[in-house]
Amino acid sequence: TRTPVNVTVTGAAGQIGYALLFRIASGHLLGADVPVKLRLLEIPQGMKAAEGTAMELDDCAFPLLQGIDIFDDPNKGFEGANVALLVGARPRTKGMERGDLLSANGGIFKPQGKAINDHAADDIKVLVVGNPANTNALIAQAAAPDVPAERFTAMTRLDHNRAISQLAARTGAAVSDIKRLTIWGNHSATQYPDIFHAEIAGKNAAEVVNDQAWLADTFIPTVAKRGAAIIEARGASSAASAANAAIDHVHTWVNGTAEGDWTSMGIPSDGSYGVPEGLISSFPVTCKDGKYEIVQGLDINEFSRARIDASVQELAEERDAVRDLGLI
Ligand code: NAI
Repeated sequence: TRTPVNVTVTGAAGQIGYALLFRIASGHLLGADVPVKLRLLEIPQGMKAAEGTAMELDDCAFPLLQGIDIFDDPNKGFEGANVALLVGARPRTKGMERGDLLSANGGIFKPQGKAINDHAADDIKVLVVGNPANTNALIAQAAAPDVPAERFTAMTRLDHNRAISQLAARTGAAVSDIKRLTIWGNHSATQYPDIFHAEIAGKNAAEVVNDQAWLADTFIPTVAKRGAAIIEARGASSAASAANAAIDHVHTWVNGTAEGDWTSMGIPSDGSYGVPEGLISSFPVTCKDGKYEIVQGLDINEFSRARIDASVQELAEERDAVRDLGLI
């Protein structure tokens, strides 16, 4: 029997939390043979609802779920954590300036980063889902100097999955035939979904599509603004698809990418592709043995270069803003 993996989920009483926890407990996060212990972290107002979700988790009698604990203290919530999913965040409300948003989130992610630094297991892997995800990940990472920087990642897998689905719909291909798609940059409206290196059943995706106007005027904005379209249609923001993407992100990180394919993750830049070192930006990555590597040597055309640069510029501005606020 394997020792259980401790998985901490913040914002456990929220809508993504509700879609996420049952799939973690049923073995989709790490594997169907890996027992888990859940540590739910909430704010005091969220504790009661988190307890309700824990009751439902109990009622599923998941064979892999070996325990559930609920906390409102990050120092306890991250104790012994092997995997941390940072979902709870402060959403942007009407009239809120970017500086206010960043400082409100700094108040969440800085202490959580410190708690991870002081209390998590040595092999901790962190995924930040709560927006602004890339910059929240940067704040948490900066507060955790004893944890290797590359363990802090931000989620662009939902954008990646959205792009695959849009490409499949346009070309009539099966989702499973689409490989090597890349999301570059920030998880925001400036993100760049890149199909120039993608393949559809082994053929170059940009050549199969062969329609630059569709790419520029339909595909890219549809992927980038999909979150807003979901809110408009559903009356609530994406939750199940976001939870699914979080599951995919960690599962791929731990269990690896398929031979010949890659995925997209927001990770600390090592300077590859002209992205300033240290920014948490989305890249094409392969994963193996619990580690990821940036796919190197891709030829970046002018169309892609301009879009990557614009998104990276936004990340640099967010970094400068949180630096000015003393958050990193
Ligand atoms: P929600 O508002 O339903 O739930 C958030 C939960 O976080 C609440 O229960 C709240 O009590 C809790 N929370 C707030 N501060 C906390 C703290 N300091 N510690 C622990 N828990 C805390 O929100 P939802 O829909 O679950 O979304 C969560 C976040 O995920 C939002 O920031 C949203 O923008 C982001 N998101 C990111 C996506 C991505 O692709 N990266 C996709 C979709 C959503």
